[in-house]
Parts: sequence; structure tokens; C-alpha cells
Amino acid sequence: MGYHSIAIDGPSGAGKSTLAKLLAQELGFLYVDTGAIYRTVGLAVRDRGIDPADLPAVTALLSEIGIAMGYGKDGLQHMFLDGADVTGAIRQNAISDYASKVSPIPEVRAFLMGMQRQMAQEHDVIMDGRDIGTVVLPQADLKIFLTAVPEERARRRCRELLERGQQADYGQVLREVEERDRRDSQRAAAPLRQAADAVLVDTTGLDLEESLDRLLKLVWERLGRGKGEADE
Ligand code: DC
Repeated sequence: MGYHSIAIDGPSGAGKSTLAKLLAQELGFLYVDTGAIYRTVGLAVRDRGIDPADLPAVTALLSEIGIAMGYGKDGLQHMFLDGADVTGAIRQNAISDYASKVSPIPEVRAFLMGMQRQMAQEHDVIMDGRDIGTVVLPQADLKIFLTAVPEERARRRCRELLERGQQADYGQVLREVEERDRRDSQRAAAPLRQAADAVLVDTTGLDLEESLDRLLKLVWERLGRGKGEADE
């Protein structure tokens, strides 16, 4: 029997990674955060002083760098760039911007596609990103399109940054969220959009537990696994 896969797509700050991680724990699936892979390319571009708009330079860089993904004892995904663990470094706010600027480049997407599909061929996965249900895993057993209004997503992002001891200005974070939404959904290559067979889940006004409950119910209906109706 093949492996199961669940695709979760949506804009940044919708709660994808938090919820996908919890779902993965609940189901015993591997959580694959594909944004982290794009962030690692973004970090490499920034570290080498390359302009993300310089397509030939970014494309040439792809064959020079070593990107790897691994799972720590904690079961969490770690990213490596040329052998160094960059799991923390890719979370800097500035790297979100680099990731968003390199991710529209078709060569970058093609380069990273193999890594993502391979994970799904070798494990039961919950994979989150922007194009998992539409491009990377079109055969996923369950596709969820997770969203929330931009203001709520900006509030969550601010909270996250503050918790990490980084500065957060709500107005600026909201502008950045909206700018990234625009870039992610208007790009020509694999734009952010809901797959025809994806289930829309809007987490605006829902807390973590309510959102998780909703997703567990969908998983139960589709895969017959996880928390059943008995918890209603
Ligand atoms: O989810 P995130 O914020 O860590 O993603 C970082 C950037 O990478 C974001 O601008 C969108 C892009 N991305 C993508 O284009 N495709 C994916 N599957 C995942 C992320």
C-alpha cells in the first residue's frame, strides 16, 4: 500500500504550520514544511549578497549550494544549508521577504519539487505550502485550503515575532502580509490558489483548538483516522 498525504495550502499566518504539526503528531505522519525550503534558498541568496531579482545569479546559485532536510530527535524538521543547521536563521523576518522573492522563479520551484515529492513517496506526510494541492501532490488524499483575514494573520505574526524576541510593528507587519499575499497569488509559476478539490477552512475568529478540531474532523471523514465523531 502507498503512503497517505495531506496537503495544506494557504497564505502566510493562516495557522498552517502550527496546525499541520499538531495534526502530524496526532496521526503519526511526518510534517513537511515546504516554506522552510524556500526560506533556505532565500537565506543563501541573502548571505551571498545576490539580488533576488537577478534571475541568472539566483539560478546559478542553485547548483552551488547544498540544501538538505532532516528530522531531529524532537521529530521536528531541520533545514541545512551547506551542512550548517539554519533552522533558526530562516525564521528572521528579512528572510520571509527573500523567500517570497525567490519563490516565483520557475527554476527555483523545479529545483525544490523533487525534494518535496520524494518525502511523500517515502512517508505518510502532512505537507504545507502554497502549491501542494495544486502542483506538488495533486493526488493528495485530503487537500485543505486554510485562510484567515489579513488583519488576523498580521496579529498572529506579530505575536510570533515578539515571542521570539524580535521587533514587531503591527502596521508594518500587516503591509508585509498583504504584499506577500499579492506576490504569492499573482505570480505566474504555481500561484497560491485553492485546488478545485480542496476544502476551504477559514480560521478567522477560531482559536487553535477549534481550528484543530475542524481539521481532525475532515481527516476522519476522508481517511478514517484520528479523532472520530465520538469527540463531538
Ligand atoms: O510559508 P512560509 O512563509 O514559510 O513561506 C515562505 C515563502 O515561500 C512564501 O513567500 C511563499 C513561498 N512558498 C512557496 O512559494 N511555495 C511553497 N510551497 C511554500 C512556500
